Amino acid sequence: MATMESLIGLINKIQRACTVLGDHGGEGMSLWEALPSVAVVGGQSSGKSSVLESVVGRDFLPRGSGIVTRRPLVLQLHKLDDGKAEYAEFLHAPKKKFTDFAAVRKEISDETDRITGKTKQISNVPIHLSIYSPNVVNLTLVDLPGLTKVAVEGQSESIVEDIENMVRSYVEKPNCIVLAISPANQDIATSDAIKLAREVDPTGERTFGVLTKLDLMDKGTNALDVLEGRAYRLQHPWVGIVNRSQADINKNVDMIVARRKEREYFETSPEYGHLASKMGAEYLAKLLSKHLETVIRQRIPSIIALINKTIDELNAELDRIGRPIAADGGAQLYMILELCRAFDRVFKEHLD
Ligand code: GDP
Ligand code: NA
Ligand code: MG
Repeated sequence: MATMESLIGLINKIQRACTVLGDHGGEGMSLWEALPSVAVVGGQSSGKSSVLESVVGRDFLPRGSGIVTRRPLVLQLHKLDDGKAEYAEFLHAPKKKFTDFAAVRKEISDETDRITGKTKQISNVPIHLSIYSPNVVNLTLVDLPGLTKVAVEGQSESIVEDIENMVRSYVEKPNCIVLAISPANQDIATSDAIKLAREVDPTGERTFGVLTKLDLMDKGTNALDVLEGRAYRLQHPWVGIVNRSQADINKNVDMIVARRKEREYFETSPEYGHLASKMGAEYLAKLLSKHLETVIRQRIPSIIALINKTIDELNAELDRIGRPIAADGGAQLYMILELCRAFDRVFKEHLD
């Protein structure tokens, strides 16, 4: 049997195909919605982009104060064999391979402006980025604009609500795994991430609580109540994180060095030492990947059913409009049909 790594790879392919070809799931749940992914949710400056970068082990996201993430970023991580060179690719520029991650950051920022203008406006249209690297686990992550409480100069009054609605449109899907980011130097009871997660996932079965900025807590206080699940209980264990500080970023502290420093932080911490093996961005990445595998495995039968329903609908539509010969409107439908058949075959292989 093929490994689970390739199963997640297959899911990534389907997600991309749905994006390129349009989603033909028909009534009810669409194919895209049936596939699990992870959405990163939290207040502005809670550390969302930092957590994403740590999970990837690369510095590639636009930064700055205020609202930097203004379009959803759908980030697909593909694990390469050790020793292979890492690179990135955008769906909107499929022929271009990026090996310079500073150029990736610039492209995200330019592509954001292309839709929203150089404003502080937001857009629902996602940017799709794939990163191929030996240092990642197979995973699809969605970075979203930060939840805010007030509009700033240059933003419409509705921005607070617009952002919340955009974030909600991702996290309310039953197959979305919610990565709820809260900073440790703020009261967990006021966390925007937990507030929204509680609303869309009251039982906490698809929410992963992440506590950032442990290093910034007031002296004499600690986050054990949260990390040990007493302050807010979730089905999955809380993961504590120490990202790079702004000073580290200014000094260009390497991500791999930052990972090592984070590990040292937990291993030598008097408060968190006993939790050290279950803390940090690397552990979080493994936890998410493992959870994703479990979820996908449970969903294989329903994904097959959905693919077959799509095949039936496409066949019916093709019968109605007549089988296409050339690149007319029906040709695309025909391509999707072929793709569905291929996916159906591969998924069935994973069943036995
Ligand atoms: P986002 O707005 O939620 O995406 O937050 P960012 O990841 O951009 O982080 C906002 C600021 O907080 C940056 O200056 C980061 O360097 C800093 N930051 C994030 N996480 C941590 C952390 O764990 N420790 C420290 N010291 N700073 C952090
Ligand atoms: Na920010
Ligand atoms: Mg951000």
